[in-house]
Amino acid sequence: MRCIRIFAEQKWLIDDFEVAQARPRAAPHQSGKGRAQSPDKPPRCLSEVAQAGHLCYECTTRLATRRALPHFTRMTDPADMRREYTQAGLSEENALADPIAQFRLWFEQALAAQLVEPNAMTLSTVDAYGAPDSRTVLLKAYDERGFVFFTNYHSAKAGQIEKNPRVSLQFPWLGLERQVKIRGAAEKISTKDSLKYFLSRPRGSQLGAWVSHQSTVISNRSILEMKLAEMKRKFGDGEIPLPDFWGGYRVVPALIEFWQGRPSRLHDRLQYSQNDVGEWQIERLAP
Ligand SMILES: Cc1cc2nc3c(=O)[nH]c(=O)nc-3n(C[C@H](O)[C@H](O)[C@H](O)COP(=O)(O)O)c2cc1C
Repeated sequence: MRCIRIFAEQKWLIDDFEVAQARPRAAPHQSGKGRAQSPDKPPRCLSEVAQAGHLCYECTTRLATRRALPHFTRMTDPADMRREYTQAGLSEENALADPIAQFRLWFEQALAAQLVEPNAMTLSTVDAYGAPDSRTVLLKAYDERGFVFFTNYHSAKAGQIEKNPRVSLQFPWLGLERQVKIRGAAEKISTKDSLKYFLSRPRGSQLGAWVSHQSTVISNRSILEMKLAEMKRKFGDGEIPLPDFWGGYRVVPALIEFWQGRPSRLHDRLQYSQNDVGEWQIERLAP
């Protein structure tokens, strides 16, 4: 919060960060505490993340935009943007027989590569008219039974799943030139399992679940702030109960496709599907 406010008032924070970055071991955006603030020495970002050597969200966005700007002004036409995918291949010989094991391997590699939000996945559903709808949700568990995410059971996606449980998931691990696509059916997990996860969440997230009537129209942000204050008063320091409108879904996979980018657009696509006796078989798809 602090960083955002200061940035709005003092436009040179980003320059300051870049200078600090260029100096080895200099801590960017240090707290101003104990440091004389001369008029030509701008105050630094005081947010906690900044003190850990990073910019806050607001500054990061502005910095990224500014750094990207020369690039974009040189090349504004997406048709000119192309890149060869050369990092790896995926062959029938190397692919693991069990798609969950193969997913685990790639997921671990996405973590090791420090991709941003490697557990973020696009969940696609269809509405009552058959029109598709997509949004990002976070994978919170997976095993041979399927892939679990948590959400509001009164949300748009939940209403769509209620009418048509067929969904797809997609992990865009672009830093590794990979994607994983999963098609299957979503089912609610048990209240016990939802509770277990809910209790593991930070208190702020638990309160957030109570505050937001996800996917409904609200007149302004203050509605949320007021509701949050109300919930804080209501629950005090006590345990926050699991809302009956919040919990997990498990996507039980019927098809899992692993996609690895290759040169000349001759990508590797291996699709796992279950045969009549529940065994997974692998087929190669044309890219
Ligand atoms: C990185 C990221 C992670 C998200 N994770 C979740 C999540 O785990 N659960 C969730 O309900 N919404 C999550 N959202 C918000 C959803 O994308 C979406 O806005 C919200 O669930 C409402 O979707 P709906 O109106 O289609 O139901 C996330 C969004 C982003 C960008």
